[in-house]
Amino acid sequence: MAEPVQTPQAAFPTRIFSGIQPSGGLTLGNYLGALKRFVEKQEEGIETIYCMVDMHAITVWQDPVKLRQQTREGAAAFIAAGIDPARSILFNQSQVSAHVELGWIFNCIARMGWMSRMTQFKDKAGKNSENVSLGLFAYPSLMAADILAYKATHVPVGDDQKQHLELCRDIAIKFNNDYGVNFFPIVEPVIEGAATRVMSLRDGTKKMSKSDPSDQSRINLTDDADTIAKKIRKAKTDPEPLPETLDGLKDRPEARNLVNIYAALAGHTPEQVIRDYAGAQFGTFKPALADLAVEKLEPITLEMNRLMQDPAEIDRILGQGADRADAIARPIVDQVYDIVGMVRSRRS
Ligand code: AMP
Ligand code: TRP
Repeated sequence: MAEPVQTPQAAFPTRIFSGIQPSGGLTLGNYLGALKRFVEKQEEGIETIYCMVDMHAITVWQDPVKLRQQTREGAAAFIAAGIDPARSILFNQSQVSAHVELGWIFNCIARMGWMSRMTQFKDKAGKNSENVSLGLFAYPSLMAADILAYKATHVPVGDDQKQHLELCRDIAIKFNNDYGVNFFPIVEPVIEGAATRVMSLRDGTKKMSKSDPSDQSRINLTDDADTIAKKIRKAKTDPEPLPETLDGLKDRPEARNLVNIYAALAGHTPEQVIRDYAGAQFGTFKPALADLAVEKLEPITLEMNRLMQDPAEIDRILGQGADRADAIARPIVDQVYDIVGMVRSRRS
């Protein structure tokens, strides 16, 4: 891969960008791995740009009616979780054409070999790789464009996105080297907290995912209190009580997952949770976790439902966010066209 760029990163002001696909309802994994941390960044007073990546969602076919609904629901989840559209920029990707324009340029920078190594593509394509969309293969290059259209420097994500962010760095480095510029920053992944990878409630070795066929495997942000409590009570575990130290959870993925979820929801470290619950049976721990989950998630679900009663207001917020996003990204992409040598002679 390309050589690291030598120029100092300090030249780029701190700016956060992150995105979530509206390809289904959001889960507890999205909340703890992404949303909750997006809010923390906003509260730190950093410039934050958050996006419902609808162009990414259609790399796998989406029902148009549901796609619109899920985009609005995702936006409602952002706001209900604490994203303030006046402080953060909140919009949907397809309303800002800079993303796909830069995405194409990056398709010409990224190498086939780099893309072929992306594990998310391999997982999603499975044995069906001849029959998935070209867009699914190019997905990480569009993701790099999402970030770099804003010259974002930091990207909060869950653990599963680490490889895509490494690719984003490689694309930025190669672009800078190929054109002899110091134009794009080399982004820093921000993967932190107790729940960077929330696992399925049915199988502690699989990521909790909105696309898992079993609804029991996940907690949806639209689940009511009763459903949340039931799913936690039925979550797969082992017969042992919780151990005295974190080390004792090493080969117990399901137990480890529930401890991590508790820690992330409570804002504690997993060590603290183990200290509080050492020796406890799941018969004690699960109801405590269910209460905590309901306490933290119910207000978000209720607020989401309230916001969803006024889709026109959500659309207005997304439109306004898109205008603000466009004002940042348009001049950056225009400079990219100049750098790569496009004639630009239109007067409007
Ligand atoms: P996606 O739903 O795939 O668009 O993911 C949106 C964001 O949520 C990304 O930052 C993911 O890394 C994060 N995320 C998704 N699932 C999980 C999970 N099970 N645990 C932690 N983070 C997750
Ligand atoms: N690929 C991310 C996911 O599936 C979503 C995403 C698209 C994203 N563009 C992004 C995340 C830019 C961070 C930054 O989780």
